[in-house]
Amino acid sequence: MKLILLGAPGAGKGTQAAVISERLNIPQISTGNIIREALRSGTEMGLKAKSFMDAGKLVPDDVVIGIIKDRLAQPDCENGFILDGFPRTIPQAEALDNMGIVIDKVIDIEVPDDVIVTRLSGRRVCEKCGRPYHIVDLKPKVEGICDDCTGALIQRKDDHIDTVKARLEIYHTETEPLKGYYERQNKLSVVEGQNSVEDTIALTMKALEA
Ligand code: AP5
Repeated sequence: MKLILLGAPGAGKGTQAAVISERLNIPQISTGNIIREALRSGTEMGLKAKSFMDAGKLVPDDVVIGIIKDRLAQPDCENGFILDGFPRTIPQAEALDNMGIVIDKVIDIEVPDDVIVTRLSGRRVCEKCGRPYHIVDLKPKVEGICDDCTGALIQRKDDHIDTVKARLEIYHTETEPLKGYYERQNKLSVVEGQNSVEDTIALTMKALEA
């Protein structure tokens, strides 16, 4: 199955994608995680993306489209994948269509802006594998340590409140129009994000089976 998860920053795309990836045995492809990894490794692309990311702005389309083209050409994508954080603009969605990739479903996770601001300030992520946690709602088994890879949990620079607000503004102008784009292709299912991760997962799985 070839899936796209849409939603505002902090809507829970990464959390949902990790669970779906495990249940359907398809890779989770997070452009945010790929860019952060490039930044940690000090590659040219990572350094180019840093100023955009730290300010909560979108990385230029040509950079992100190049990343996705390379990643989707890997053999583990042959039987499907979940795109988490791509596309984020209409030109990115058009580029995906032009690659000849046929997406089966697009799940849009809807969460109000005020809930997002609260969530992101409590988010912690694994610095090694990128898995998200929350200081109240989704704690790791051992404080400060990732359950999956024992990496250290850190707070992202772009999770500071002013940057979160800037990211939300960009989401509403640049990314939200993708809902109409995929609705016109009859691929869109809307999931109302719940207060618990498990409840949202149940709704997402139901939307996938529909
Ligand atoms: P990226 O890493 O993709 O960040 P984002 O979309 O802003 O999304 P987040 O990771 O912040 O949120 P999420 O929806 O995955 O939520 P999560 O599951 O973590 O991108 C970062 C940057 O990279 C961008 O700003 C941009 O600069 C660049 N970039 C990436 N892709 C790009 C592209 N295509 N084009 C251009 N630039 C690009 O959950 C959030 C928190 O809430 C967690 O703590 C979680 O535990 C908690 N939570 C989740 N679900 C629930 C629930 N149901 N109830 C309670 N708590 C919950």
